[in-house]
Amino acid sequence: MTATTLPQALHFPNQKDFKMKPIIEAIDLHKTYSNNNVKVHALRGINLKINEGDFVSIMGSSGSGKSTLMNIIGCLDIQSSGEFLLDGMNIQNLNEDKKALIRSKKIGFVFQSFNLLSRTTAIENVELPLLYSNSDGKLRKELSENALSLVGLSDRKDHQPTQLSGGQQQRVAIARAMVNDPSIILADEPTGNLDSKTSLEIMGIFKGLNSQGKTIVMITHERDIAEFGSEIIEMKDGRII
Ligand SMILES: Nc1ncnc2c1ncn2[C@@H]1O[C@H](COP(=O)(O)OP(=O)(O)OP(=O)(O)O)[C@@H](O)[C@H]1O
Ligand SMILES: [Mg+2]
Repeated sequence: MTATTLPQALHFPNQKDFKMKPIIEAIDLHKTYSNNNVKVHALRGINLKINEGDFVSIMGSSGSGKSTLMNIIGCLDIQSSGEFLLDGMNIQNLNEDKKALIRSKKIGFVFQSFNLLSRTTAIENVELPLLYSNSDGKLRKELSENALSLVGLSDRKDHQPTQLSGGQQQRVAIARAMVNDPSIILADEPTGNLDSKTSLEIMGIFKGLNSQGKTIVMITHERDIAEFGSEIIEMKDGRII
């Protein structure tokens, strides 16, 4: 199945029309990093509400705080002050195990550099997130094969990353992000290492996932890629402008 023939919203008639449930909420969020007595105010009062099924692009110059914000949204880091709610839940005070569980259930990550394990086949890479939660090998294989077929890569499942093009590697990474069926996809410059044609293919996949109801938050430096989102947020010096 190619990106352009991804199942469209036939069975999920535009969920946004009748569901306006906030899934990501930030209230006066601040983040200060302290290294060797040097303080960096990476976020300076972010207010943000993202509803279930939204596709939000984040733009802004280097160092404006985009990845810092995304790391908090992804429960990889916590704010210095302010409130952050994921699906209505205040995750700040949860221990690492609980946060890891929430991450694996609710969030799929996609990065610029794909972050695939080398000398490991596509299907094994996709299977990785399931190893923590699912002990049934047959089910794991089935779920991983489904995820790879969703991104049109069934015929490359036994290839290792070095045997795949950049776009194919990113598609494996997307399959890996989707294998747990998370409701949110967080993508930090997913097309940063791809040519423009391949970037559009990846956006086709994101659009398809979004039309199935997935919430997408994507950082990009490219305006034409950002425009695939239904909303563009601009950051500058730790603030949304
Ligand atoms: N772990 C850290 N320790 C100290 N400072 C950090 C850390 N991570 C980020 N920063 C600083 O926080 C600020 C925001 O960084 P961030 O990575 O969020 O920017 P960004 O908008 O994602 O930039 P880019 O477009 O280059 O990826 C920068 O000034 C950066 O140097
Ligand atoms: Mg960044």
